[in-house]
Amino acid sequence: MTLIDTHTHLFAEQFDEDRAEVVRAAIGQGVEKLFLPNIDSTTSAAMDALAEAFPEHCYPMMGIHPSSIKSNYKEELAHAERALFAEGANYYGVGETGLDYYWDTTFVAEQKESLAQHAAWAKTLDLPIILHTRDSFDDNYAIMRNAQDGRLKGIFHCFGGSLEEAKKVMDLGFLMGIGGVVTFKNSGQQLRDVLKEVPLESLVLETDSPYLAPHPNRGQRNESSWITLVVQKLAEVKELDVAEVARVTTENAMNLFGLER
Ligand code: NI
Repeated sequence: MTLIDTHTHLFAEQFDEDRAEVVRAAIGQGVEKLFLPNIDSTTSAAMDALAEAFPEHCYPMMGIHPSSIKSNYKEELAHAERALFAEGANYYGVGETGLDYYWDTTFVAEQKESLAQHAAWAKTLDLPIILHTRDSFDDNYAIMRNAQDGRLKGIFHCFGGSLEEAKKVMDLGFLMGIGGVVTFKNSGQQLRDVLKEVPLESLVLETDSPYLAPHPNRGQRNESSWITLVVQKLAEVKELDVAEVARVTTENAMNLFGLER
């Protein structure tokens, strides 16, 4: 069984003591490919170093997280742009970007500007865009809808919306990233209900490590090998074999990122 973690921050400082072991543990569980979404200019060197250390397993993506869009956002965007368009640049996605109205709404206008910029880069480079959405689905969707000219593709990472929102994501031609939340006892129920109605062809798996560890490890530092708990739960929800859910979600990710099997 081959799995792909489409969203994992294993370059984060939480893994400074045991990063290589954590990557090898994931590979040992069949998590063959790990997609690394950047956070901001302070994390990209660690991300690039991890990708260089495991070139066949770790795939870096470049962008600025909405929570890192502050008064110096122009410098942050310039950093991402330089990296994405540098000669020999080898990024597999643009992100993570998006809108986060949960933690701070001071820079909403700047977050929107950043998101539109990321969408333009994704189209120019023909790369998927990786979207963070927190209390911001409508605005996020509106900006993607506006930017969609047939060239835009990507993932609504950590999707947690309604069925109506899931349908909008599908109409846009995007995928939904499913992680630890689907395993949560009470707070995961709404997502499980929505996922019953969503075809597997629109889903990819993720962990968002070190965050959102799945049940029964909730609250601990998350790691990519625990994606096995996510695929098991999703299989249960969809009433399908784990192997089938693994196969289809892996294929969805391979297609989105333009990788050959
Ligand atoms: Ni993330």
